[in-house]
Parts: sequence; C-alpha cells; structure tokens
Amino acid sequence: MVNVHIDPAFDDAERRRRIYAGDVVVYSSVPEIAAFAEFTRGMITELFAPHDPISIQDVYSPEELADILIDFKPRWIHDPRSMEHVRDIVRALGGDPERIHADVPKLRTAFPQGGLSTGIAYAFQAHRDTWYGAPPQQVNWWMPVWPVAEDNIMEFYPRGFGMHVENNSGDYNYYVANAWRGRIKDFSGGMDVRVHPAPVDGIGPDEVRLTLVPPQGGVMLFSGDQLHASIPNTSGVTRYSIDFRVVHVDDVHAGVGAPMTDVACTGTALRDFKRLSDGAPFSEDEVAPYDVEGAAAVAGGVKEFVPTA
Ligand SMILES: [Fe+2]
Repeated sequence: MVNVHIDPAFDDAERRRRIYAGDVVVYSSVPEIAAFAEFTRGMITELFAPHDPISIQDVYSPEELADILIDFKPRWIHDPRSMEHVRDIVRALGGDPERIHADVPKLRTAFPQGGLSTGIAYAFQAHRDTWYGAPPQQVNWWMPVWPVAEDNIMEFYPRGFGMHVENNSGDYNYYVANAWRGRIKDFSGGMDVRVHPAPVDGIGPDEVRLTLVPPQGGVMLFSGDQLHASIPNTSGVTRYSIDFRVVHVDDVHAGVGAPMTDVACTGTALRDFKRLSDGAPFSEDEVAPYDVEGAAAVAGGVKEFVPTA
C-alpha cells in the first residue's frame, strides 16, 4: 500500500522512514518552493522573450529547442542561486543542511506529444531512479514551475514498490552514462540510443496508476525506488518542472533505505551528492559500500571516450 500524506506534521526522520516504505509526501504551499519556481520562471521567461514559454513549441522546431535548452539548462543548474534555493527549501521543511547531501537540481521540460522527447528533453518511460544508480536513501523532490495538470505530469505505479519487476538495469553502468552527458546533443534528435533501464514487459493497461498534481508552490517527495514515469504530454502546453534529490548522512552510514528488490545496475550516484551546508562530498570510504570494486577505475577509463567535437 502507498499512503499519500498531505502537509504532514511529522519530522524529517519520520518522513524518511515513511518514504523508504513507499509513501509519498506532498506539501501544498511552501514559500521557499514558490520562490524557487518564481526564480526559474523568471529565467525561462527571459530566455524565450517575447514568446510565452508554455507554448514555445509553436515558435521553435524541436531541433532549435534542443539547441536552446542544451545551453540554458546547465546555466540554470549551476547558477549559485539554484543550490541556495534547494538549501532553503530543505531547511524550511525540517531538513538539517549539516546532515543532508543534495545533487544539483534538474529542470525538466516536457513538450506536447509529437515534439522534442529525446536527449535534453528525454521523456522518461517507467523506471526506478535506483535502476540508474540512485542510492537506496535517495528522496526525490518534484515541483512544478508553472501550474501542471494530470495530462502533463508524471505517474506512479504503486503496486511496483518493493516488488520484483523484470528489468534491464543490469545493462546500465552509471559511469558510462556519465560519459554520455557530455554528448547530450548527439541524443537530442531522433536517435537516443542510450541505455534507459525499464521494465522488460512494459506497464500493462490494467496497471494501477497514481497521479498527484501538486499546485504551484507545492512539492511532492518520494523514494528514488518508486516505479514512475513521465506521462505523455497531451495538454497542448509545455510542462516545466524542477526536481532534486537528497540523501541523509545518518542513513547512508547505517545502510537504511528503500528495498531495491530488483536493482542490477553498476555504480552509484552517491558521489554527486554534496553536503548542503558547505558543499563537501562523501568520502570514498562512505561511498565504498554502495559501489562495485573497480567501477571507479572504469569511470576514469570511460572519460577518454567523450568526443571533443
Ligand atoms: Fe525518475
């Protein structure tokens, strides 16, 4: 069973315990979330001015949008204000920045069906983030930038939590995938040939689906081990959303987290998580229990294959 908690009063420790058990937590109105969304709307509005960002797919071709976003998304991600917003949000909702590490936030763009859906705007099929190297402690925070609706958001498959779902995560190596990031333009046309872990049998028409629609200024938190997907966007407007991922140091040390019943990928994303208070990474000793011996060496070798062109 998946419980959905709306504006709960419990603290961060209790929240993590419930999220690792498959619950989803929604906060409907948080000033710090609204501030991050407003900051992001400002940057996107400036980027596309004088056009309306939510109908930008009518102005530019998929190829032009790919070029614009390949330039823009890293600029937004690495703007120091983005990480400051992440820290403010986590603190506002009871998280301790001294004990919590976060990965850089991601900006997602989901264009209406038929538009750009590969590479820089990849429309994720059903997956667990843990099939992509996410650690068992990963908590995802997902928030809309403009108002979203049930026809342009994401959905959960709650029956899949903690269950074995046949999948191809065994073909996925986190360090190889990191090398692909440098070639995102190669995958932003009709030929996204990267390995994307997914259920071998897909998601059946009878599957139980859960769609939560947080309002603008709201957020939903869920385990990286949840089975979920982007919904094909049939709304006619572009969806912009922000997500970021956090892990708690105490749980990383204790080995506490989500069940990860069917995860077979190689490598871990844990090195991407930096302490919110000062940006410190995990030590190799802290990462070692989550990594495969020798995988880091593979990572070093793989970087040589990143083309410079
Ligand atoms: Fe995901």
